[in-house]
Amino acid sequence: MKVFLVGYMGCGKSTKAKQLANKLGCSLIDLDAEIVAETGKTISEYFSEYGEDGFRNYESELLKNFDYPENCVIATGGGLPCFFDNMDWMNANGKTVYLDMEPAQLVSRLQKREKRPLIAGMDDAQLLAFIKVKLEERNPFYKKARVIVDAFDLDVETLESRLVG
Ligand code: S3P
Repeated sequence: MKVFLVGYMGCGKSTKAKQLANKLGCSLIDLDAEIVAETGKTISEYFSEYGEDGFRNYESELLKNFDYPENCVIATGGGLPCFFDNMDWMNANGKTVYLDMEPAQLVSRLQKREKRPLIAGMDDAQLLAFIKVKLEERNPFYKKARVIVDAFDLDVETLESRLVG
């Protein structure tokens, strides 16, 4: 089984993917980390060199062409489900889980903003306003996930139990 974790920046996709992969005894794939490893560039460097469109093309190609092990948990980049047909592709190729979180909680969890090009340099108030707008745009995609969980204080046992069925 492939489990794709989706959700906004800061909702805990990478951490929860690691915990879930350990719990299930399967492989962990972090698509942003794969981009960094493949290109030798940070996400910010990639954005400034090729622009957001270049990044969206790259991450979508990677999503669809990655050589996934049979059983794995995949942490996706926050924007990935919202471009092209990526969310439908993930639904067709695995189990999708949306880690849903309130904007104010995301703001308090997003302390390392500089490494995220879309929010670099924002203060808390700017970030809160930005996230609210972005979630309006992105929630229709995120909410296509087969499972939607409240990501605040989520423990891995609860996450695992939600995968069944
Ligand atoms: C992005 C989220 C980031 C990364 C890039 C763009 C987004 O991933 O892919 O900075 O558009 O929300 P994380 O959600 O892992 O931070």
